[in-house]
Amino acid sequence: MQIELQRAGDPDGRPVYRQIADHIRSEIAADIFGAGARLPAIRALARSLRVNRDTVALAYEELAAEGVVESAVGRGTFVRLAPQASPFQPSLSPLVERLLEFERARPRFGSGKAAVAMHAIIPDPSLYPAESFRRILNRVLRDGGPELLIYGGPQGYEKLREVVAERLRKVSIDVGSDEIVLCHGASQGISLSLRLFAEPGDTVAFEEPTYTNLLATAFGLGLKPAPIPMRGDGLDLAVLERTLERPEVKLLYTIPTFNNPLGTTSTLEHRRALLEIAARHGKPVIVDGYEMDLRFAGRSVPSLAALDGTGLVVLLTSFSKSLFPGVRVGAIVARGRLVDALVALKSATDLSDAMPLQAAVAEFVARGHYDRHLARLRRILRSRRDALLDALDRELPTGARWNVPEGGYQVWVELPDGIDTGELLADAVGAGVLFAPGSQFRHDGRASSDLRLSFAMAREDDLRRGVAALGRVLRDRFASPVRRAAKVHI
Ligand SMILES: Cc1ncc(COP(=O)(O)O)c(C=O)c1O
Repeated sequence: MQIELQRAGDPDGRPVYRQIADHIRSEIAADIFGAGARLPAIRALARSLRVNRDTVALAYEELAAEGVVESAVGRGTFVRLAPQASPFQPSLSPLVERLLEFERARPRFGSGKAAVAMHAIIPDPSLYPAESFRRILNRVLRDGGPELLIYGGPQGYEKLREVVAERLRKVSIDVGSDEIVLCHGASQGISLSLRLFAEPGDTVAFEEPTYTNLLATAFGLGLKPAPIPMRGDGLDLAVLERTLERPEVKLLYTIPTFNNPLGTTSTLEHRRALLEIAARHGKPVIVDGYEMDLRFAGRSVPSLAALDGTGLVVLLTSFSKSLFPGVRVGAIVARGRLVDALVALKSATDLSDAMPLQAAVAEFVARGHYDRHLARLRRILRSRRDALLDALDRELPTGARWNVPEGGYQVWVELPDGIDTGELLADAVGAGVLFAPGSQFRHDGRASSDLRLSFAMAREDDLRRGVAALGRVLRDRFASPVRRAAKVHI
């Protein structure tokens, strides 16, 4: 946070602490700090503004007295949620209240405008093939006729289903266009496929740590969590066996390739064993393949959908991370009656998707633009990953460990026990880097000593700067000497 302070008091006679409080109040009013956002730690802000800690503490106390922020012991100072507009607001369903509670507990990243953004998996807009996509979209709209402008069928634009099926067949997933339901990104794929098999009160199994929005979706649907810990080669199969055996557990959700948040890919043996367990218990497996087109190193491992001989696997894919997220196009691949059920659910949810976009994606892929774009994207991702790993080697203290992803956008870092990365975040923002703390990926939001670094948004120089900032924060905090970390990879 940058504030131009008049240290001897400003023309209005405001002391320094009030200038700070006024500045933060105006940032909150401008929604730069949204409801629930965490303010920078007192120490970090004092350091960056070069004022005494007590001055910042006083500013925060003033804002707290006004009810603008609130402090939670040991966790920091947060912007209070906006007061309810009217005393007669209808009461929300208990499920939605629970979802709001989950959202409130999510880490907030504050303004951190100058900080290197390594917290989110949002692909770098400078890499989007915007110009070629725009030309194709224009052509599709010009030539597509009214067919594209009325409601499409709930299963989605046929040509895109054909194009997606053809790509999947190339990676040994034997699928026809009639076994695909297009949807609004993998996110909608998650909620539709959870609803296929589970109703409120049921339990769902998933890897932990896992994708934050899987947790939000499951909570919003009234589903109970059955987390399965992760091991080096994939989720813990012994725990999976015990979990799927329970009748109330209706399905497994898994991200076997370029796992979010870990970045790891499970082995072929692990995949076979997982399917065997699922088949033994007759439990469906939802496979989130959101980054499956983004392998830039190593050998690919057959998808669970390619290995499945039972029809229990439902595969989700997406163009969000490989094209751009605003396109909101994903696909659900399923067998037999599941397809009819998905079409019914999709229709009941939103009738259909935006056909012009689906038609443009179909053309974009069919004309070879997508593969050309992927080739470039993979090259860039690989060098970003290498820059990040190199910086981690140089900057992180002994005892830190991380993995080496072969695709996708994320690296998981484990710090020595006892470090709460959720707590560390405010200091990191002050020092110039944003990361996703491990608590964000756990169903109970418990503190943890791990974090996810994303190389989706930041370029190589920024990645180096961000990791250097993280190294500084760790050094300051723990006064631990930074030695070249032994190359301990997870
Ligand atoms: C594991 C996982 N699945 C699904 C999604 C959402 O993808 P989409 O934009 O296709 O809805 C994300 C987004 O980060 C993700 O990490």
